Amino acid sequence: MEIVAKNPKETQRVAEALAQEILVGRPQKRALVLALSGELGSGKTSFVQGLAKGLGIRAKVKSPSFLLLKQYGVPGREIFLTHLDCYRLNSFEDLESLGFSDLLADPKNIVALEWAEKVKKYLPKNNTLFLKFEHAGEKSRKIKIQ
Ligand SMILES: Nc1ncnc2c1ncn2[C@@H]1O[C@H](COP(=O)(O)OP(=O)(O)OP(=O)(O)O)[C@@H](O)[C@H]1O
Ligand SMILES: [Mg+2]
Repeated sequence: MEIVAKNPKETQRVAEALAQEILVGRPQKRALVLALSGELGSGKTSFVQGLAKGLGIRAKVKSPSFLLLKQYGVPGREIFLTHLDCYRLNSFEDLESLGFSDLLADPKNIVALEWAEKVKKYLPKNNTLFLKFEHAGEKSRKIKIQ
């Protein structure tokens, strides 16, 4: 599926709609991974902000570039959104040291991964939704969902 979001709000709305589908689609056996790829400024963090909003998370989601990982609880549910940014990641071992395997094994987790292209081969094929972001104009972004 391919969507053109004409501004940041639209990108967030696409993510909010996906969040609703994710909540309806639970439970799973393992974590759900949202693998977000695409160049700098293509809207990955904006998308995760919309996702968090759609899940009912009130906290302001910022890019976790320096922390690499940030986790948010979904109010009223045993579900967690984990936001990871692989931009500064040097090796898969670095991701492992953050407890990545444990995150993936736990069906309570929704793992949103920015710069997922850097760790693509380590992502579980069955439980990963691949999203690609592209610039399509100053305020337009193309979002390709798997
Ligand atoms: N349609 C759009 N969707 C998302 N962001 C948009 C859109 N139009 C303009 N923007 C702007 O583009 C920037 C996107 O930044 P964002 O941090 O979401 O990108 P990113 O892909 O996470 O970048 P990075 O690779 O640096 O993490 C923001 O400043 C946002 O306001
Ligand atoms: Mg980002």
